[in-house]
Amino acid sequence: MKRRYLVSLMEKAQFNKEFFDTTLNTFDQLVQKNALDNLLDIVSAYEKGEIEFFDAGKKVELIAEQTNLHPFCVYTVYFAFMAEVLRKRYIEKGYPLDMWLNFVKDFQYQATDSNTVHGVWGQYCAPLWQSRYFNYTIFGFGTLQFEIRKFGGYYKEGNLEIKEDTPVLFAHVPNTGKPLKYENVLESYKKAEKFFTDNYLSELNGKVIFVLRSWVMSKKFASILKPTSNMLVMANDYDVFKYGEYADKDADTIWRIFGKELKEGEKLSDLPENTSLQRGVKDLLLRGEQIGWGWGVYKPHVEKYK
Ligand SMILES: CC(C)(COP(=O)(O)OP(=O)(O)OC[C@H]1O[C@@H](n2cnc3c(N)ncnc32)[C@H](O)[C@@H]1OP(=O)(O)O)[C@@H](O)C(=O)NCCC(=O)NCCS
Repeated sequence: MKRRYLVSLMEKAQFNKEFFDTTLNTFDQLVQKNALDNLLDIVSAYEKGEIEFFDAGKKVELIAEQTNLHPFCVYTVYFAFMAEVLRKRYIEKGYPLDMWLNFVKDFQYQATDSNTVHGVWGQYCAPLWQSRYFNYTIFGFGTLQFEIRKFGGYYKEGNLEIKEDTPVLFAHVPNTGKPLKYENVLESYKKAEKFFTDNYLSELNGKVIFVLRSWVMSKKFASILKPTSNMLVMANDYDVFKYGEYADKDADTIWRIFGKELKEGEKLSDLPENTSLQRGVKDLLLRGEQIGWGWGVYKPHVEKYK
């Protein structure tokens, strides 16, 4: 029955074959090694409030160690069952269940990145990443996710002043494997605006303000990508008030663009050139430049509050 639950959840969230098989295989091994009940006991202890989220995570990692299974994969099975806890909570709170499904779909987005960086189809940022869903600071709205977080910078336009500790909504672009179609982006904004207005307005000091800080907003892309590029179209809706460079010299961006990490000793000239982004970025890296990031405030919100 538990196996059937897992299979139907993975089908519902449309995991790809590699991730599906890896997760099911991890489940079967947990059963074989008599560890599944221990894992489910953790879920039930968390649900009853007998254990804290991160202490539960430590116990999950212990099971991975004892069974000699990869913790990223054990975490997928664990969060597949934790998903039921979150689903019940969303129902209690009256949150739309398609938002809950975004939590489960996110396992795939995380696993795709995990496979790129670690060669493992699992949850490489667990349990920190998922904790944000369980403490209601991050929510998925299809193409985009939004996280309630302190701004961490300073922005002023007319009467709109966003200070370091002002709570705002940071947009995240998950790796869905699909292009960032503008109509889907607009749909996410619409859903998020309504959801946060209805449910989190006091936590947001009465203002729903989207911000985006990402490599996707790099100023370098204006000369690399076509003006119709989805990233440029999205960036155009933000009043970018700051550009900067990453301390890791784009290491975390390079694997997102080239599908692999640039390891010590590997040459930039070996990076693939399959897309205009890859060609343009490779060229600028070879010139010794960095991609960096851009940080902007969503223009319709600036207009609304300024
Ligand atoms: C954000 C994302 C969906 C944009 O993809 P998109 O909709 O194709 O974007 P654009 O239309 O602007 O793409 C312009 C060009 O760059 C290419 N491109 C875009 N993202 C790419 C990526 N991650 N790797 C390689 N090429 C990419 C496109 O294929 C297109 O190439 P073409 O001109 O040769 O046809 C995509 O980059 C992605 O999924 N990234 C992973 C998630 C991520 O990094 N999020 C931000 C974390 S802070």
